[in-house]
Amino acid sequence: MSISKVMVIGAGQMGSGIAQVCAQSGYEVLLYDVSDISLDNGMARIENQINRSVVKGKISGQDAKETLKRLQPASGLDAVKSCDIAIEAVVENMEVKKKLFTDLDEMAPAHAVLATNTSSLPITEIAAATERPSQVIGMHFMNPVPVMQLVEIIRGLQTSDQTYEAVKGMAERLGKISVQVNDNPGFAANRILMPMINEAIYAVYEGVTSPEDIDNVMKLGMNHPMGPLTLADFIGLDTCLYIMEVLHDGLGDSKYRPCPLLRKYVKAGWLGRKSGRGFYSYQ
Ligand SMILES: NC(=O)c1ccc[n+]([C@@H]2O[C@H](COP(=O)([O-])OP(=O)(O)OC[C@H]3O[C@@H](n4cnc5c(N)ncnc54)[C@H](O)[C@@H]3O)[C@@H](O)[C@H]2O)c1
Repeated sequence: MSISKVMVIGAGQMGSGIAQVCAQSGYEVLLYDVSDISLDNGMARIENQINRSVVKGKISGQDAKETLKRLQPASGLDAVKSCDIAIEAVVENMEVKKKLFTDLDEMAPAHAVLATNTSSLPITEIAAATERPSQVIGMHFMNPVPVMQLVEIIRGLQTSDQTYEAVKGMAERLGKISVQVNDNPGFAANRILMPMINEAIYAVYEGVTSPEDIDNVMKLGMNHPMGPLTLADFIGLDTCLYIMEVLHDGLGDSKYRPCPLLRKYVKAGWLGRKSGRGFYSYQ
């Protein structure tokens, strides 16, 4: 199956990054969001990023013009009828995603692939909301999408080889390196990353050392580019807690229990960078 036209649904942090990378790689792209403000902001963010690349000399003015021409906002979900693939990047909520996939399934052409950028929700369950589970797949990009090389491609129970190959080929054309992962809680990236972050939070909770020194240990001792607590603040502590709950519920092992300090911070509204306070202060 060949993919030439892409619809990205959700114009937030991830969706705008995905749309940008697709347009830069030669795909025709439609970007849709349920909120007009988010759609306008997403389009503006992409234009800004591309113009900055011109200023930095990374791409020519002509390339920028052509990239932006390939990217259009969509006024409704039914625009998917002209697309070969839909990549969903809306809120991390199973009910919202299931409803969206049922609607996309009704509107998309029969050959189209329906992909989700979920960081933790089961692909198999999302696929079950459609009549085409063999054409539903996880395409988990990392944040920020234009910078990070990895895409986890997650196969649901019924995802076909043809769907997998089409999406793998697309990831290559986007200049990404993909890994094939089966549909298990947290997939591979968050299964490994989140328990490490949770353990770093336990170390603060149990008074092992300060947040700064925990980050120093991992940066200077393990060569991580960012310490786990700085990274947790960047991801959002509410998101970290949510993913730990998914691991704990899905795998049923007490080693995945979220640290009480993480729960406490989220209850206090200390969500990291986005709220101005997490393990560090961003005032
Ligand atoms: N932020 C990350 O670091 C990251 C990394 C990998 C994957 N993800 C996943 O990507 C998805 C999006 O995350 P984000 O950080 O971009 O969120 P975000 O809040 O920045 O953007 C979500 C967008 O979806 C829109 N939206 C909500 N419901 C919609 C609907 N029914 N139809 C169309 N648009 C709708 C919202 O208006 C918003 O603009 C989530 O599933 C998340 O788990 C996030």
